[in-house]
Amino acid sequence: SVQNGQDLRSPICCIMGHVDAGKTKILDCIRGTNVQEGEAGGITQQIGATYLPAENIRERTKGLKADAKLNVPGLLVIDTPGHESFTKLRSRGSGLCDIAVLVVDIMHGLEPQTIESLNLLKMGNTDFVIALNKVDRLYGWKTFRNAPIGKAIRQQSKDVMSEFNRRLTEIITQFKEQGLNTELYYKNKEMGETYNIVPTSAISGEGIPDLLLLLVQWTQKTMITRLTYSEKVQCTVLDIKAIEGHGTTIDVVLVNGVLHEGDQIVVCGMQEPIVTSIRALLTPHPMRELRVKGTYLPHKEIKAAQCIKIAAQELEHAIAGASLYVVGPNDDIEAIKKSTVEY
Ligand code: GTP
Ligand code: MG
Ligand code: NA
Repeated sequence: SVQNGQDLRSPICCIMGHVDAGKTKILDCIRGTNVQEGEAGGITQQIGATYLPAENIRERTKGLKADAKLNVPGLLVIDTPGHESFTKLRSRGSGLCDIAVLVVDIMHGLEPQTIESLNLLKMGNTDFVIALNKVDRLYGWKTFRNAPIGKAIRQQSKDVMSEFNRRLTEIITQFKEQGLNTELYYKNKEMGETYNIVPTSAISGEGIPDLLLLLVQWTQKTMITRLTYSEKVQCTVLDIKAIEGHGTTIDVVLVNGVLHEGDQIVVCGMQEPIVTSIRALLTPHPMRELRVKGTYLPHKEIKAAQCIKIAAQELEHAIAGASLYVVGPNDDIEAIKKSTVEY
C-alpha cells in the first residue's frame, strides 16, 4: 500500500515473555488455530512466524469502531519460546522485529524471562507494547468473547474491577522498578515515553482487537522510514527442515527486498558457505504458522516482509540464525561467501 508515495512493508512483531505467559495462545486466538495444544509439553521450542493480512486485522478490529486506515499490507508475527533455555532464540526473534509484544501473565506479574526479554528489548532499542494476559482468570470474570477490552472491563462486577486494578497497579510498580513507565493504553497520555499495556485474554479474546489495532496504528505512525520497502534483500534463516516432497527446506524471514524462484543464494553452512538456487518459494496460508506442517502456497516471487519456506539443493548443513544472501548479476560470489558469518 502507498502513503505519501511510499511503499510500506508489513511490520515484523515479535511475541516475547516468560514461559506459559500465553504467547502462542494469543496467536492461536488471532489465527483461529490450535498450535499451542500440539506442542510437546505445551512448551514452544522453536521460533514461529505467521503472516496476518490487513483484511483479517481490519475484520478483527472493527468492534473498536476506530475507522482504522491500515497503510501496511499486514503484520508478520514472530513467536518465541519463553523457557529459560531458549535465550538465543529470544535474542534472534527480538533482533528481527520492528516492534515486540511483551506478554505478562496478570496472575504472576513480572517473571525472570519477562525481565530477560525486557533487557533484550532495551539493548536493541526495540519498541514494544505489553499484553497483560489471562484477564479471564480474575475471579468472577464475565466473558465478552473477542470484545474490545474497555467494553469488557466496564461490564465486570465491582470485585473483578478492583481485583484487576490491584494487580495492574502492582505490575506497573514492577515495571517502574525496571526503570519503565507503563500505563493502560487507553489512559496513556505520553505515548512513546510511557509504554502501553493492553489487557488480554487469549482464551476468550477480550483485548485482542485492541492489541492488533495498537500494533498496526503505532508502527505505521512512528516507523514510516523503517517500514519503507527497500530492494536490498535482508533475510534470516530460522530453521532447517526436511519436508515430504521438497527435501530439505529452510524457513526464513524476509525482512526486506524480494526473492524469486531460481535466485542464486548463499547461506551459512556447517563446514562452508552453501551456494544454491531457489527451487521452490513456499509460504504457509495466511494466518497459519510456518513451523507447523501444513500445505504450502507456491510463489514465483515474494516481497518482504514475509515468512517463507525455501526448497533448494544442499541445504542439509545450513545453519539457523544466519543471513541469507542473493547473488545479483554483478555480485562477486566469493565476497558474499566471505560475509556469511556463523551466529
Ligand atoms: P512458551 O512458548 O512455552 O513460553 O509458553 P507461551 O507463553 O506460548 O504460553 P502458552 O500459549 O503455551 O500458554 C500456556 C498455558 O496458559 C496454556 O495452558 C494456555 O491454555 C494458558 N493460557 C494462555 N493464555 C491464557 C489466557 O488468556 N487465559 C487463560 N485462562 N489461560 C491462558
Ligand atoms: Mg509458546
Ligand atoms: Na507454553
